[in-house]
Amino acid sequence: MRKVINSLVVNDEGKENAQSIIFVHGFPFGKWMWEKQVKVLQKRYRCITYDMRGLGESYVGDGQYTMEAYVYDLYSIIDKLKLEKPVLCGLSMGGYVSLRAVEKEHDKFGGLILCDTKADGDDDNGKLVRAAKINQINTEGLDQFIDGFVVPLFSEDAPKQKKKLVSDVLLKAKKNNPVGVKGALIAMLSRTDTNKMLKKIKIPTLVIAGSFDKLTPPVKMRDMAAKIPNSDFAIVPRAGHLTPLENPGGFNDLLIGYMKKYFD
Ligand code: MLT
Repeated sequence: MRKVINSLVVNDEGKENAQSIIFVHGFPFGKWMWEKQVKVLQKRYRCITYDMRGLGESYVGDGQYTMEAYVYDLYSIIDKLKLEKPVLCGLSMGGYVSLRAVEKEHDKFGGLILCDTKADGDDDNGKLVRAAKINQINTEGLDQFIDGFVVPLFSEDAPKQKKKLVSDVLLKAKKNNPVGVKGALIAMLSRTDTNKMLKKIKIPTLVIAGSFDKLTPPVKMRDMAAKIPNSDFAIVPRAGHLTPLENPGGFNDLLIGYMKKYFD
């Protein structure tokens, strides 16, 4: 069911009283990236997806976002839907939001799934790269930026072997408002480093990496998982950075295994 909460467009599917999972999408995508997960998991769990502020159908406003504002948005959904100890599943930028949300209010959550993400903040070079991206959107337009940024997120063979998937994802990402996309870049470049909180995570955590992920490679993600006391680490084969899209079957098997282990 489609809902609007705090100017954010939210999809609330599955059984109302079942264990809930909130999916937080990556950049520059939207709630649509979790469609294949929701289709399967809603049979047993309550599945919440939403468009982050400035992206997809959600309110764009002035584009002045911070990671902290994204976290408040997430809390507003949890509070409005009265979700008790949801499992939080965030991919990449959604992982940054999830890590900060758990750091801030650990006991609000029942579990954590970190997909293709990291706890490090942007270093100086990373900040300059983000600034160049904002400049590219201003000078060349959003479409050029999306083509250059999104294609390398896939595994190397994807543009040839998964042509339809790649072109669908590009098309959807290009529908975003450039103001919201630039706002997300600023929120990411100014985010805090959450490494110091990893050892304090007590909720069951699953760390997922795509075998061909170049942005957050499996070896880095394994290191992150090693810092989280109660965590499992798993690799999704035949996938780059966008694991739920590139190998939905492999990704769903991991998700289902984790949910059964800790929440059934
Ligand atoms: C994402 O997939 O959310 C982004 O690539 C994250 C980032 O640019 O740091």
